Amino acid sequence: MIIVLTGAPGAGKGTQAELLAKREGYRKVSTGDALRKHVKLGTQIGKVAHSIMERGELVSDEILFKVLKEELLTSAPEDVVLLDGYPRNIDQARTLDSLGDAQRVKAVVQLEVPRAELIARLSGRRVCGGCGATYHQTENPPTRAGICDKCGGTVAQRVDDRPEAVAVRLDVYVRSTAPVVQYYREKGLVKQVSGVGELESIYKDLRGVIGAL
Ligand code: AP5
Ligand code: MG
Repeated sequence: MIIVLTGAPGAGKGTQAELLAKREGYRKVSTGDALRKHVKLGTQIGKVAHSIMERGELVSDEILFKVLKEELLTSAPEDVVLLDGYPRNIDQARTLDSLGDAQRVKAVVQLEVPRAELIARLSGRRVCGGCGATYHQTENPPTRAGICDKCGGTVAQRVDDRPEAVAVRLDVYVRSTAPVVQYYREKGLVKQVSGVGELESIYKDLRGVIGAL
């Protein structure tokens, strides 16, 4: 079964999905992470996606379908998959619906964070190029500046966290992704959780919502 974790860029989807995967044994699937892996490896998909992601725009539905299939290929029907970053428009939501029972969307959990906070988070976010661990320049810095606590990799700013790209991403969220929440609301699948506050308290709320499904 699939639980879609949605919310604006910077809402904390990746941070919370990582915690939930580690502690509860859910399977985290992030289309953003998968695309960044393609870019890093220089695959055909990565070559096409690279500049689109840098600008903060959406990569084509066709590519995303390939990425999604690739990511879901290894999940078993009994897995609880936390899907972070997909679907991001109505066509992607319809595609997901068409995948059949093994990939049924059980719930859509929306993390809600005000815009000003999103901007502050994204401008301060730093990410490990090695293992993908997420930090924040002031709120949650690595112990040694620029070096990942978990793997010793280099911690740097994501290219799409520059202000011009952040503005595009927030705009894309409002125009294309927010309607997806409405699409699922009409199916009675949406649960809202505040994404503001301590990581652990948000985690507890999310665990409660998902555990009750
Ligand atoms: P993607 O990687 O999915 O980026 P996003 O949706 O913009 O989301 P983010 O990863 O920026 O935010 P997040 O919610 O994961 O927040 P995080 O936990 O990191 O997508 C990137 C790109 O790939 C897209 O722009 C697009 O080009 C392409 N793409 C991906 N999927 C696609 C699709 N389906 N279709 C088409 N294109 C697609 O937290 C952010 C910061 O806040 C961190 O620094 C963190 O430490 C901090 N933080 C987290 N929680 C808290 C808290 N409670 N209090 C204070 N700080 C916090
Ligand atoms: Mg993320």
